[in-house]
Amino acid sequence: MIKANQIFVKSPRLTLRRFQMSDIPPFFSYRSHPEVAKYQSWENYQYEEAEAFVKNQLTQEPNQPGSWFQFAIALADTNQLIGDCALHTLLDEPRIVEVGFTISQDFQGKGYATEAVDALFSYIFETLEKHKVIAFSDVRNHKSIALLERLNMRREGHLLQNFMSKGQWVDEYQYAMLRAEWKKF
Ligand SMILES: CC(C)(COP(=O)(O)OP(=O)(O)OC[C@H]1O[C@@H](n2cnc3c(N)ncnc32)[C@H](O)[C@@H]1OP(=O)(O)O)[C@@H](O)C(=O)NCCC(=O)NCCS
Repeated sequence: MIKANQIFVKSPRLTLRRFQMSDIPPFFSYRSHPEVAKYQSWENYQYEEAEAFVKNQLTQEPNQPGSWFQFAIALADTNQLIGDCALHTLLDEPRIVEVGFTISQDFQGKGYATEAVDALFSYIFETLEKHKVIAFSDVRNHKSIALLERLNMRREGHLLQNFMSKGQWVDEYQYAMLRAEWKKF
């Protein structure tokens, strides 16, 4: 059963919770910001896309092989949406998951992404008991690379021309962390 206001994991300043309808305006605001979209798959993001995205998330559950689930990142004090992080459970090997993340331009540079993804890792390794987490980053996305390395992920590969980004093939780094490497184990 889908639970409204469902909280999946907490950290000192944040909650990772299910998206809710009131998130649509702030979600649209940061998704459509050119700096936030620069290394992402979308371009010229429309309000209707934000509405459809949030409505779809209301019907989804995390940890479904072959699917992406998006966690809303909210300030613990006010419940204000400041970003989102994604969990992709691989279809052929659901013990391995991929993550992605976005923080609103207004809330970057405050350690929120590090705190949110660290909390997501505790959910992945402790609650879902996954074997391995992977993440891909455009090699030009220095903030994303810095975040992945702050989280102690290992760079496992440099994948040449692995992603079609806004009309050009770009290289990506693949990062990973094994369950055995997670700080708690
Ligand atoms: C990738 C992204 C999430 C990184 O966000 P970020 O704000 O740089 O990362 P954090 O929230 O962890 O903040 C780290 C910074 O906050 C500073 N900071 C301030 N207070 C802090 C605190 N209490 N704890 C930790 N760091 C703190 C750190 O020193 C660091 O500063 P620096 O960048 O000058 O070194 C962000 O750039 C983004 O959303 N980009 C667009 C989407 C995207 O490209 N995603 C990646 C592909 S999936």
